[in-house]
Amino acid sequence: MHTQPAGSQARTAVITGGAGPRSIGRATAARYAREGWAVAILDLDGDGARTLAGELAAEHGIAAQGYALDVTDSAAVNEVAAQIADSDLPPVGALANIAGIPSPVPFLDVDDALWDKVIAVNLTGSFYTCRAFLPAMLEGGYGRIVNMSSVSAQQGGGVFSKTPYSAAKAGVLGLTRSLAREMAPEGVTVNAVSPGAADTNIRGNTTEESEAALSASIPMGRQATADEIAALVVWLSSEDAGYITGTTQAINGGAYIS
Ligand SMILES: NC(=O)c1ccc[n+]([C@@H]2O[C@H](COP(=O)([O-])OP(=O)(O)OC[C@H]3O[C@@H](n4cnc5c(N)ncnc54)[C@H](O)[C@@H]3O)[C@@H](O)[C@H]2O)c1
Repeated sequence: MHTQPAGSQARTAVITGGAGPRSIGRATAARYAREGWAVAILDLDGDGARTLAGELAAEHGIAAQGYALDVTDSAAVNEVAAQIADSDLPPVGALANIAGIPSPVPFLDVDDALWDKVIAVNLTGSFYTCRAFLPAMLEGGYGRIVNMSSVSAQQGGGVFSKTPYSAAKAGVLGLTRSLAREMAPEGVTVNAVSPGAADTNIRGNTTEESEAALSASIPMGRQATADEIAALVVWLSSEDAGYITGTTQAINGGAYIS
């Protein structure tokens, strides 16, 4: 099923954090492309973002661009938004804030720099991108924002990352809810997706044993695939999801039921 009109009617989905080789952002960009969206992929790894954009354009016949971007750089975020507005891409209709970093450090070892970085990438970056891309959505008459939270925000860590990450991801829920209320009269929806453990590279060099133990701790006995999370993000961007806003969509195999 396509969630987008084809050709000149298509809209662009902006995805942050799409370049990682097994990342949720990559799966999300691929899913948007498969459903007929044009895509703009924004990542620290500009080469990776551009390569993925080229692959998706060739495979799905959509317009796609990749950009090097650090989401914690406010001026750079505004600059990329301006470049996208001036490009051949169709109008921006969706923003998926997926870039994120973990923080498995025990609380008393967290220094100021680590705290600031984890908050900056996981929370402040989403503020910068929402602010930069909302005007295009309001002007284009269609807007869907999906922000990436985590079960860590809801249950207080307990998967891999600890306090700064949980605080940042809880901040994402506050950002989502308040922005949803403000944007509802404009018809722009703002939702959060809150995954439990997903099978990506985010945890770095963990062992096979620790990953197996993590999977065994989940009622469904396995981690989410990146594509399962991508499917939820892209559905929340569809016209069908237009009455859903301010929500936290849990996707955790039963690991946290509230
Ligand atoms: N994998 C999980 O278990 C899990 C669970 C819950 C939530 N999440 C969240 O999902 C999102 C994606 O995670 P993932 O597992 O795909 O991670 P990943 O490490 O595989 O990919 C993260 C991507 O973000 C990019 N990135 C990092 N810092 C950036 C910055 N400052 N600016 C721009 N891009 C940046 C990286 O280059 C990479 O492409 C993150 O927000 C993460 O916190 C992941």
